[in-house]
Amino acid sequence: MSVRETPKIAPAEGKLGVLLPGLGAVATTLIAGVELIKQGKSSPIGSLTQMGHIRLGKRTDNNNPAIKDFVPLAGLDDLVFGGWDIYEDNCYESASNAAVLEPTLMDQVKPQLEKIKPMKAVFEKRFAKRIDGPNVKTGSSKMDLAKQLMADIENFKKEHGLSRCVMVWCASTEIFLKPTEVHASLAAFEKGLEDSDPNIAPSQIYAYAAVKCGVPFANGAPNLTVDLEAIQELAKKNNVPIAGKDYKSGQTFMKTLIAPGLKSRMLGVSGWFSGNILGNRDGEVLDEPDNFKTKEDSKLSALNIIFQPEHYPELYGNYYHKVRIEYYPPRGDNKEGWDNIDIFGWLGYPMQLKINFLCRDSILAAPLALDLALFMDLAQRANMSGIQEWLSFYFKAPMSAKGLYPEHDLFIQLMKLKNTLRWMKGSDLITHLGLEYYD
Ligand SMILES: NC(=O)c1ccc[n+]([C@@H]2O[C@H](COP(=O)([O-])OP(=O)(O)OC[C@H]3O[C@@H](n4cnc5c(N)ncnc54)[C@H](O)[C@@H]3O)[C@@H](O)[C@H]2O)c1
Repeated sequence: MSVRETPKIAPAEGKLGVLLPGLGAVATTLIAGVELIKQGKSSPIGSLTQMGHIRLGKRTDNNNPAIKDFVPLAGLDDLVFGGWDIYEDNCYESASNAAVLEPTLMDQVKPQLEKIKPMKAVFEKRFAKRIDGPNVKTGSSKMDLAKQLMADIENFKKEHGLSRCVMVWCASTEIFLKPTEVHASLAAFEKGLEDSDPNIAPSQIYAYAAVKCGVPFANGAPNLTVDLEAIQELAKKNNVPIAGKDYKSGQTFMKTLIAPGLKSRMLGVSGWFSGNILGNRDGEVLDEPDNFKTKEDSKLSALNIIFQPEHYPELYGNYYHKVRIEYYPPRGDNKEGWDNIDIFGWLGYPMQLKINFLCRDSILAAPLALDLALFMDLAQRANMSGIQEWLSFYFKAPMSAKGLYPEHDLFIQLMKLKNTLRWMKGSDLITHLGLEYYD
């Protein structure tokens, strides 16, 4: 399909399965939230698909439909959640353990949460050293494990009478990995699965299984997972959308708001220190240096791309950027982030900016996971396959085509997302030129 052609979008008929590897804090906050919203007990704050509007035509046209009325998205009533975890806890028990939501709120959707029991996970402790659990598959090879996941997907579809599924990775961050030979092509990867190649991580097995079954895959963690030639080749071959990586929920969200603003005014930056304290299971996993390295890599990339030090050496050629995450159990999911930004202005005079963000990690991430599930399903019905760069808006380290730098500026990302929706519907793109108002 040519990129310029308006696609034919298949209607969102039937039920959509939302498969979540990792039924921890983010996943259970998402599921509980959707159930509460369906019952009219809460509202989908933070979700662009549920609350956002999109301007069509001229500013004088006054045409701003809700995004969910403009493009055919699956409705919340049509979502069926399922997933895998290394622990046997059902979603109610897991949500209680994560302690993001108050018990009184969770109890209102207890039957719906209790019904969701995790399928046995594909897991290797080597990739997430701080956790271990009993609910894990065994198999003769990594290919055998992939086939078990594919059977899980097919059974889930049958059992719930689903017309289609999407998969959104909500499991722990894996250790830092670089692509190797086994990831360089689909043929090498499939041979690696048969040989149980040690370089193939569990998340990659889920991604392979999903794409093989024609299920779109979005990656909410900083693992490589779908940033691999092998999986991208399979996604193109099977006509399946993929996207990643790492939800842009808290501190990086702030960074990609502030950094473009400083740069737009040609203000220099000499240092940016980001500290965090976090006490949930994610924080515990990230307390392991090899797992933190994966997160650090993802968190560091945004500023360099926004600041373009190669074009602005005087302003950004020499800034010092540091990111720290400290595991601090008393805070649970209520992360606190501090950013100290040393900037300089006219004649080089120094100034400082301090941001103290007292946030709630999973409250910020859950609506992103919901939007990704709905937009990935839309992309598939619009026949869009491979990397979905228009969903960069949701990610700390957005994927982009080979040789293309990713867009990190939140407002460019939002414009790209909305223009993609306009394009999907054959509506005029909005350039913000606006000269016609003065003719
Ligand atoms: N909350 C946020 O704001 C945010 C932002 C960006 C990224 N993330 C990422 O999202 C992911 C989920 O975060 P969370 O706070 O829900 O973490 P969590 O620790 O509460 O949940 C992760 C769950 O994944 C399970 N798990 C680990 N490996 C698995 C495997 N191979 N298969 C199946 N299950 C597995 C764990 O047992 C755990 O229950 C993490 O990777 C985190 O880094 C979160």
